[in-house]
Order: sequence, then C-alpha cells, then structure tokens
Amino acid sequence: MTAYRVDLRSDTVTKPSEAMRHAMAAAEVGDDWYGDDPTVNRLQERAAEVTGMEAALYVPTGTMANQIGLRLHFRGSGHFVVAEADAHVTSTEVMTSAAFSGIAYKTIPGDVRGQMTAEQVARALEPDVLYDVEVVDLVAVENTHGHAGGTVTDLDVLRAICGVARGAGVPVHLDGARIFNASAASGVDVVEYGAEVDTLMFCVSKGLGAPIGSLVCGPSGAIREARRVKILFGGAWRQAGIMAAAGLIALEEGPKRLHEDHARARRLAEGVAEAVPGAIDPATVETNMVFVDTEGVGMGQVETIVRLREEGVGATPEAGKVRMVTHLDVSDEDVEFAIAAWRRVAAGR
Ligand SMILES: Cc1ncc(COP(=O)(O)O)c(C=O)c1O
Repeated sequence: MTAYRVDLRSDTVTKPSEAMRHAMAAAEVGDDWYGDDPTVNRLQERAAEVTGMEAALYVPTGTMANQIGLRLHFRGSGHFVVAEADAHVTSTEVMTSAAFSGIAYKTIPGDVRGQMTAEQVARALEPDVLYDVEVVDLVAVENTHGHAGGTVTDLDVLRAICGVARGAGVPVHLDGARIFNASAASGVDVVEYGAEVDTLMFCVSKGLGAPIGSLVCGPSGAIREARRVKILFGGAWRQAGIMAAAGLIALEEGPKRLHEDHARARRLAEGVAEAVPGAIDPATVETNMVFVDTEGVGMGQVETIVRLREEGVGATPEAGKVRMVTHLDVSDEDVEFAIAAWRRVAAGR
C-alpha cells in the first residue's frame, strides 16, 4: 500500500469527517432488508427531495445503483441499451451488465467531451434492420462524464436526447455519480436534470465525501421494484444506517463546497500547463478532474504515474492520459505540492 502525500487518484479516497464518525457511532439503525432502518429511510427521503424524484433507494455502490437502474428498464437479453462508448456502464460495468442482466450495448461515439447528440441517439433508436422490430429498451446518459474528463452535459442537450427517447417510447437512466459536480459547474439544479429522466443515480461516496453508498432515484413504483432487484443482487445490507448517517451529512454539506474542488482542479491544470507546456489546456477542466497528456514529459502515462508516486502524488491512467481528481481532502497547499512534483518529473529529476 502506498501512502500518498497528496492523493489525487479519485474523489472516492476521502476519509469520513469527525462529524460523520460521530453520526455513524450514534446512528439509529434497523434491518434494511425489511425497510426498517430509520437512518437509511431518512437518507432515501432526502435523496428523493434533492433530486425531485418520488422515491430513492440506498445501495452500497454506484455500480449497483446503475445496474439496478438498467435492470428496471431492460426487457431481456437480445435487446440493447444505448449509451456513449466510454460511459462507465459501457466500459467499467460492461461485464457486470452482461452477467447480471444479459445487457448488450449499442454504443455511440461521443465528441471529445464524451457528449452524444440527440441526432445520434435518434439514429440509434431506429428499428433494427435485421429484425425490423424495436430492440432498444433504454438510453443511458452520464453526467458528469468521468472517462471524458468530468465533463458536464448541457441541460438543453439532455432535454433533446430525452425528448427523442420519449418520442420512441424508450426510457432514460442517468448515471449521475457526480451529478452534484455537474450542478455546481453549470448552476443547473439537480432537480432540473432529474425532471428529464426516468431514473437517476448519484453517489454520496464521491465528491460529496461519504465513505460508502449511492442512491437510485425515480418514481415510487420503479423504486419499489428496485428494492426487489437490490435484494436479488445481494445488496440487502441490514443495519446500513451506520453508513447512511454519514451519507446524510455528505448530502447536506457536500454540494455546498464542490466549487472549491473545481477551482483547485483548474489551478492544478494551470500549474501543470506551466510545468509541461502543451500537456493540458486548463479551459478543458469543467469540474474536479484534470487529464494530462504525458508526451511533453517524454514518458508514457504509467511511467509518469510511477514517478509522481515517488514524489508522493497519487494519480491514475485514464483515456491515454494521467488523471487527477480533486476532492475535499485536497487543500490549496496540496495542489501546489502536486504542481511542484510535476515540475520535477518534467525536468527529469
Ligand atoms: C460515472 C460513474 N458511474 C458509476 C461509477 C461506479 O461507482 P462505484 O465505484 O461506487 O461502484 C463510477 C465510479 O467511479 C463512475 O465514475
């Protein structure tokens, strides 16, 4: 295990705050299989409120939240889910989708920001030429788009995609693992994104800072079925109120400070751009992710990451680049430390 001086591998690496630890220790709990955990129920009610959905369901991971969301709409193997080619569901979760639900994807290549257009979605929804029947059950959209650099889907674009899907009678699931980052960057309330889609999931365990958990949100009937699927997938996690207590704090406090992570990501990009000319255009940083091209350091992405690790900075490879993510455990000083590390790495020291 590596102890990083500044860990920028992901916004999932945050440690629970003192307030979270106290709330967890004092949490009122019950058996969540039976729907009896009052703290889980409070978190679910609050999640429904902030997304403008009728109901919500607390689950252990973002992957499970997506897989439940997909399963709710998917009619069966031999059918497709339409999604962007580098979306989390079509890449990291592609095996899980196949293994859990028999899902195959019809992928759409997004632009450099990982964004699909309504026209592309409309084409993907045309009846299958071979069978001459509708075989697309669902459209999945991701906001922010993680593998494309934490990019924000414009509300008008989302509206147009959902309009096309609705016109074809196809529901839309939103992977909003970082929807609060999207909201902080765009000024669009999460409720407005939620109003466009049939189901929406978000993670409290990422930028919001909780140690564990995600929420699937949607109409009451769908969330009732989602509870069944959660149990089916092995996600009935008993006294989960211990984690939900931290989730409640994350949901109240987290969204207020995401703009700080975004400003630090922008500063990090500016510093790296100075250290390694041409490695990144800071204007491409939309939220809390910074993707750096390593050509200018004369090393591949993995080698660069190893060098950064030696300097005490954690980063990950992504899309052929070095990815760094700011989060609530990253201070202004940490950002300057990381920039100084990049300078040394670029100078070959
Ligand atoms: C966009 C997106 N969706 C879903 C997930 C899955 O979340 P988890 O790691 O909690 O399973 C991630 C994880 O990084 C993600 O970035």
